[in-house]
Amino acid sequence: MAVRLVFLGPPGSGKGTQARRLGKRFNLVALSSGDTLRQEMKLGSAVGRQAEQYVNGGTLVPDDLITDVMLAGMQKLPKGSGCIFDGFPRTVPQAESLAAKLAGSGERVGQVFDFHLPDEVIIGRIVGRRVCTKCGATYNMDHFPPKRPGVCDECGSRLVQREDDCAEVIRTRLETYRSQTAPLVAFYRQRGLLHSVDASRPADQVECELAQVVETLPQ
Ligand code: AP5
Repeated sequence: MAVRLVFLGPPGSGKGTQARRLGKRFNLVALSSGDTLRQEMKLGSAVGRQAEQYVNGGTLVPDDLITDVMLAGMQKLPKGSGCIFDGFPRTVPQAESLAAKLAGSGERVGQVFDFHLPDEVIIGRIVGRRVCTKCGATYNMDHFPPKRPGVCDECGSRLVQREDDCAEVIRTRLETYRSQTAPLVAFYRQRGLLHSVDASRPADQVECELAQVVETLPQ
């Protein structure tokens, strides 16, 4: 059975960073809901136009919209390919839709990683984040600076700050996480799928812990 991982956690907790690392390490496809929506916004597609006000304001896009986009992304994966859902599901209805879809093909979520860390660390990380306009690689001015300021090490394109990485929107994103996404922790704990991760540690340590868990999962 192909591995299906879920990365759950507040904004800036390192889900995207770890999805890239684990993806490379275990040959898993990272399906990021935020990256997918930003890509649709850049293309100016119908999905992108619908999502824009929510993403830029730090609230959640409607469940149906994101669920359709993410399940379609999963269906496009090569047969037998494992994946990491980064930032999806983010509400109980989204988690139920994902479970139902997987059950339809005899699959299930194998593990949910719950990233936790204090708000002050989150805010520092988000304020320092820079992302590549082309390949989406993520840097941090304090922890992972690019070799040349403002330029992506991987593809040489320009680095920018995300529009939703400003102080006011970060506050809204944290409130949205607490009210709408945090209930998923109980949802997955009840199903015996939750592994809680201290995400305040250096990225190498976090990766090492996640990798140890993934190695125990049936492939
Ligand atoms: P999304 O893009 O998913 O944003 P998010 O959940 O707020 O997560 P982030 O991308 O901000 O952070 P991250 O946890 O990936 O951290 P990162 O690795 O970059 O969603 C954006 C918007 O889309 C939402 O607000 C919503 O509107 C919409 N949306 C998305 N999914 C949805 C859904 N399912 N339903 C409805 N709406 C949805 O790390 C952050 C920084 O810290 C980086 O600079 C990184 O280099 C650094 N860093 C990472 N790890 C470490 C470490 N261990 N030590 C030091 N620095 C670190």
